[in-house]
Amino acid sequence: MTHPRTVVVLAAGQGTRMKSALPKVLHPIAGVAMVTFAIDAALALDPEQIIVVVGHGREQVEAQVRARFGDRVTFALQASQRGTADAVRAALPAIPASSREVIITYGDCPLVPGAFLQRLVEARVSGSALVSVATTELDDPTGYGRMLRDGRGRITAIREHKDCTAQEREIRVINAGLYAVDRAFLERALSAIDSSNAQGEFYLTDLVSLADREQPEATPVVELRGRQEILRGINDRAELADAEAHMLEAINDRWRRAGNSIARGARIERDVELAQDVTVGQGAVLRGKTKLESNVTVDVGCVLEDAIVRERALLKPYTIVTKSEVGVGAQLGPFAHVRPESVVGEGAHVGNFVELKKTRMAKGSKANHLAYVGDGEIGEAANIGAGTIFCNYDGYQKHTTTVGAGAFVGSNSSLVAPVTIGEGAYVGSGSVVTKDVPKDALAVGRARQENKEGYAAKLRALKKKPAAK
Ligand code: UD1
Ligand code: MG
Repeated sequence: MTHPRTVVVLAAGQGTRMKSALPKVLHPIAGVAMVTFAIDAALALDPEQIIVVVGHGREQVEAQVRARFGDRVTFALQASQRGTADAVRAALPAIPASSREVIITYGDCPLVPGAFLQRLVEARVSGSALVSVATTELDDPTGYGRMLRDGRGRITAIREHKDCTAQEREIRVINAGLYAVDRAFLERALSAIDSSNAQGEFYLTDLVSLADREQPEATPVVELRGRQEILRGINDRAELADAEAHMLEAINDRWRRAGNSIARGARIERDVELAQDVTVGQGAVLRGKTKLESNVTVDVGCVLEDAIVRERALLKPYTIVTKSEVGVGAQLGPFAHVRPESVVGEGAHVGNFVELKKTRMAKGSKANHLAYVGDGEIGEAANIGAGTIFCNYDGYQKHTTTVGAGAFVGSNSSLVAPVTIGEGAYVGSGSVVTKDVPKDALAVGRARQENKEGYAAKLRALKKKPAAK
């Protein structure tokens, strides 16, 4: 059910302190753009409208947000970044007339959950206030807006760090940059806010003193105090790293509570999905849209990106799987490398130092040691011996190697593609196979062995003699 409220997410700033060509709100946290989290929190409020105010790097920000959220968000353009109040002004025309409540959040505050915004709204409504503001107490409040109060403890203003007196700078309770505002008051206040301050910007924080001036006898401003770890915004890359560590731990805890064993120090990105009874080892990294079905084990140091791993598969330490699928009960690694567009079938084995690229390995097939298997079609229960190389590239084009069901490729063979090894065929070790091998045939493509009786002994005797002068 939607509520008569609109959320405005401010994301037009450059983020100068990030020292980056990438707009601040697009810096990734747990694999997705920072602004994603602010929009997720906004969606949890079931608002009529979500407006993202864009400006700096507008095309990039819009494209990424649209790709993820489609028409669930709209955009407002703040042509030049003249401050947070100016940014909200840019959003005003897009706020539906029916929205009586406006929630404003900053795109650089990604750890705030939707439930916190809900409490912010409730604090305003239950306190019959014009504005509710999220605050937190910091040991080092440098750079933040401070909460000023009167003798009764009522909040009367937010003063930006640069505008504070030395005494005001002692205040450690800061503005977190999240507000729920009565819509009619917001419109009045935005037309009154000017830029007479140290930075010559239109400060949204002036909402607070304006509310106080409207209702000096009442309590027009209420605060919702929150934990500093979630309310500290991100202004530079050190804060970005802190926020990400916090986010990753929250993601891990969520999966643990859902019935999975996640070692400390595993990195599971935001869009990854786990079923249940999944085990993820220390230092394992799960990226992108990776999906693990139940009872999968991803051991120490594995790196998976956009991987689908079916039930009961076992990925031993340091296995890498990219944009590929691993079948039910399959076993990979240690140190297996599965490159894009590969499918490892049910119960198949891919052992240490085996590289697959764009290869399908059918049910029960095996490549257990030291092989390069590129552009391959491996049939059921076929066996690829140690050191086998699929010579898939002739310098111009890639070609396919097909190995039939039940075929056996002896160790250290080179299969020169395009080539087909028939069902149940056998390739002798060390063969270079350039011609198709018929079903059930034996192919031997190597020099014939010759034994010279007694020759080694003769050679030894020869070597013992002193060299002629
Ligand atoms: C702001 C608050 C400060 C608060 C702090 C909390 C103001 C004036 N100050 O300071 O009281 O303690 O957040 O983190 O609001 N933005 C625009 N257009 C602009 C300027 C900014 O869209 O013209 C956006 C930015 O993209 C960012 C957000 O507004 O997402 C906050 O801007 P930022 O410059 O980070 O403000 P702070 O200095 O952190
Ligand atoms: Mg900020």
